[in-house]
Amino acid sequence: MKAIILAGGSGTRLYPVTLTVNKHLLPIYNKPMIYYPLSLVMLLGIKDVLFVVNPADRSSFEKLFGDGSKLGINIKYQIQEKPNGLAEGLILAEDFIGDDSVCYILGDNIFFGHDLIKIMEEAKKDVEKDGGAYVFGYSVRDPERFGVVEFDKNGNVISIEEKPKNPKSNYAVVGMYFYDDEAVEIAKRVKPSDRGELEITSVNGEYLRRGKLKVKLLGRGFAWFDAGTHESFLEAGEFVATIEKKTGLMIGCIEEIAYRNGWIDREQLLELAKPLAKTDYGKYLMELAEGED
Ligand code: DAU
Repeated sequence: MKAIILAGGSGTRLYPVTLTVNKHLLPIYNKPMIYYPLSLVMLLGIKDVLFVVNPADRSSFEKLFGDGSKLGINIKYQIQEKPNGLAEGLILAEDFIGDDSVCYILGDNIFFGHDLIKIMEEAKKDVEKDGGAYVFGYSVRDPERFGVVEFDKNGNVISIEEKPKNPKSNYAVVGMYFYDDEAVEIAKRVKPSDRGELEITSVNGEYLRRGKLKVKLLGRGFAWFDAGTHESFLEAGEFVATIEKKTGLMIGCIEEIAYRNGWIDREQLLELAKPLAKTDYGKYLMELAEGED
């Protein structure tokens, strides 16, 4: 499986902050927002990653990650000329995906929870083995902001709608999707929505029509943030700060994951830590390198 991280879009809901800076590069507490989705992909053991980015921001992402080799992974960049919608990323990534399956993740989504990786791994394996699409629902108070999934009384999915005025449930579809290689062809047939975007919900809707959409609910033990508004951005940062201070463990620390996965060695970890030495982040990496055999 490969991974695609969507880091384009206009970020208008975070104006004026994002008038000149791409939102995915802004800090959620002590690290850029984009570290969080990348860390999930790495925790899933996926090494081939494509970032979908705006033309103006490509160089910033390249400055941050290069070709990924310093983290022991392969990173490529795909320009999206205009924010035409989430499903367009699949079309643009056709060559990258080839006949592989894909973990498709939104750059402004932050996840945390016990057994999160286990659950995501199950979805990954399911799609690798049986194909289709696998998505996750999460109970929210404001479902009209999201893709919304509706179930019948036996728990079967009966509809999926994007930002409905009258949501049929409180379950938002979170921004992490697993697809087989048919997603590209499905995305190519999607028509722009009323807001003029190629919606990822239309892709999921087509999988549902074909009887190939699985939805798993993330329960109370999970935290999920779509950090695309001022409020949720702040909430996500406060949440990460609280957990990190309490546990002494970092969330979304890509260098740590690369090291623990055995993708980089101690020397490489120390190299990555050096320029960060004045920060707690850098000290955390140093301690990690020094503390283990
Ligand atoms: O966060 C989950 C929600 O994300 C889902 O419930 C919705 O079904 C889905 O449509 C999406 O809704 P949003 O309105 O929150 O999407 P947003 O425009 O914020 O874009 C999500 C991410 O994708 C963000 O990191 C920017 C990036 N993006 C967005 C667009 C429209 C792109 O890379 N290219 C794009 O064309």
